[in-house]
Amino acid sequence: MSHPLLGVEELVAGFGATTVLHGLSYEVNRGEIAGIFGLNGAGKSVSMKVLAGVVPVRSGRITFDGVDITRMSAEERVAKGMAHVPQGRQVFAALTVEQNLRLGAYTLRRRDSRRYQAVLDGVYDRFPLLRERRTQVAGTMSGGQQASLAVARALMAEPLLMLVDEPSAGLAPLVVRELFATLREVAASGVTMVLVEQNVAFGLQLATTAHILQVGRIVHSGAVADLDQAAVASYLGVGRLLGAGVTSTIEARKPAKKAAPRKRAPRKAVAK
Ligand SMILES: Nc1ncnc2c1ncn2[C@@H]1O[C@H](COP(=O)(O)OP(=O)(O)OP(=O)(O)O)[C@@H](O)[C@H]1O
Ligand SMILES: [Mg+2]
Repeated sequence: MSHPLLGVEELVAGFGATTVLHGLSYEVNRGEIAGIFGLNGAGKSVSMKVLAGVVPVRSGRITFDGVDITRMSAEERVAKGMAHVPQGRQVFAALTVEQNLRLGAYTLRRRDSRRYQAVLDGVYDRFPLLRERRTQVAGTMSGGQQASLAVARALMAEPLLMLVDEPSAGLAPLVVRELFATLREVAASGVTMVLVEQNVAFGLQLATTAHILQVGRIVHSGAVADLDQAAVASYLGVGRLLGAGVTSTIEARKPAKKAAPRKRAPRKAVAK
């Protein structure tokens, strides 16, 4: 299998006279957690909506598992194995936890009720709190619990690829850590992810590859372990404050190197 799981080629999309994506291109291979980073308004959420089939493409091509899905409906994409966890989570506040989960698998439930029950049990095993709270009205749960529910609902469709838009928004760092641990487990279980994160330092803890989006175009792509933190900070204009967090995250993600005696003189630091 040589093709990537997701291929995004020269996507152009927008609204009325406004163009938001100006030729967006990147690839995601199986098993990756692709982090999409960019400033507010860069087009991160629009790019996820275009992938999910909620916003139409003006030109360009999307391939999923080698198949051209550019003109496919959102429902067909879900059936093919794509799930979208939109920004703001958007759980159905008036419905219970289990009703929300059921909606994540509405076609499966009709098609194969035994399989549906097995998928639901699997999701509850991963999110024991949701099992405990299955009759609770979703709108009365905490932000972190609703974030878990949004991810769990996406998993009900048994996706190959999950598009997760700003899962950390509005959550305390400890809650983000727990949610990211869950997302990491989900990824390890074989679900490839595209993760949008406004908080770069958080996002780099989870992402394996990073794509930097600037005004509707990817301006930098690479493995997180190879990222040049100065370049990331300058692309995102995050300055010294966040830059420090990004540096330590990137350093922590680099594979440990054996301490070898230095043969060459260390490179000189670039003067600013
Ligand atoms: N339905 C819409 N109609 C018109 N313009 C829109 C629509 N949705 C998004 N836009 C515009 O597209 C641009 C990109 O929006 P998008 O939501 O993708 O930003 P983002 O990168 O996700 O930002 P944030 O970090 O704030 O979530 C913005 O200028 C926004 O105003
Ligand atoms: Mg957004």
